Amino acid sequence: MLLQDMADMLAIEARDVSKVYKNSNFAALSSFSLNLELGEIFTLLGRNGAGKTTFVRICATQLMPTSGTILVFGHDIIREPGKVRSVISIVPQEGRPLRALTPWDHVYNWLQIRGEGKNMAREKTEQILNKLELYETKDRLAMNLSGGMKQKVLVAMAMATDAQLLFLDEPTIGLDPVSRRQVWSAIRDWKQAGRSILLTTHYMDEAEMLSDRIAIIDKGRKIAQGTIDDLRKVIPQNIKVDIAKDRIDIDMLKSYGSVIDTGKSSIRVFTFESAARELTEFAVKKKLTFAVAPITLDDVFISLVHSDDEVDDNDAIADPNT
Ligand SMILES: Nc1ncnc2c1ncn2[C@@H]1O[C@H](COP(=O)(O)OP(=O)(O)OP(=O)(O)O)[C@@H](O)[C@H]1O
Ligand SMILES: [Mg+2]
Repeated sequence: MLLQDMADMLAIEARDVSKVYKNSNFAALSSFSLNLELGEIFTLLGRNGAGKTTFVRICATQLMPTSGTILVFGHDIIREPGKVRSVISIVPQEGRPLRALTPWDHVYNWLQIRGEGKNMAREKTEQILNKLELYETKDRLAMNLSGGMKQKVLVAMAMATDAQLLFLDEPTIGLDPVSRRQVWSAIRDWKQAGRSILLTTHYMDEAEMLSDRIAIIDKGRKIAQGTIDDLRKVIPQNIKVDIAKDRIDIDMLKSYGSVIDTGKSSIRVFTFESAARELTEFAVKKKLTFAVAPITLDDVFISLVHSDDEVDDNDAIADPNT
């Protein structure tokens, strides 16, 4: 398919997708819908077992949905899996390179399998191995690579391709801070070329840094969706003050903002600038330990995604229909 033919299409158009695994008595995914636009980085966030990998694997034609429809660049994942596979590339969760192959073999052979000519395959392999700092180890067998290097081989394979849609299921797991940034840079290059990404991650900084839009999944259902700014609005205040729990009257704190017991040695207050200033002046006077920080996606995530014993029917939903 030509790039111009794709221009008006959604990279993913998923409608009411549900999945009940065999031998399972609950839905890993329930009526899940999502539109991923061309050139967009869309991130799925959710606790362990929320259903992120299930959705990614269904979109990537590795798993059948129980019900619902998904089109990838207009191709139905059930009726046209071959066409879907020709336009996607995936870094699976917990994938492993083959022990007896080198990083070079993995990337170069994969490009050839996907139909790339020898010269182009060589050029692209060199490029991505350099980008991810794997060039020095390009001839080492995968069994002799470190865990992070193995992960980067999988990222290199997927990102060297000419696919239009990339699935990255926790791509930076186990990577050191420098390697993570190399992967982020490769992700930005991918987007720069007008190509799309569906990402899952547990690193909120990564999600904040890269995502155009985010959906939060909880127990197989979408509970929030929007840009970072949309999601930030779930918490009306913009500053958090953590203040030592001992020697403080919690009722008095409530006059400064919303008080949250984080279960740690400090109490958290979501508030605004002027009240934060008053509260910190009070803390200084009383010689109480405190910390002030902006409210982040981390706070939004925790406030939306409850543990099992705290289910609240009035969960805030940011932009659930887009
Ligand atoms: N092959 C399977 N057979 C039965 N149940 C499964 C299977 N794979 C996943 N599940 C269940 O489906 C639910 C969703 O799992 P999934 O792997 O999609 O979660 P996830 O959001 O990717 O979690 P994580 O953040 O831990 O990777 C979980 O309850 C899991 O136990
Ligand atoms: Mg997963």
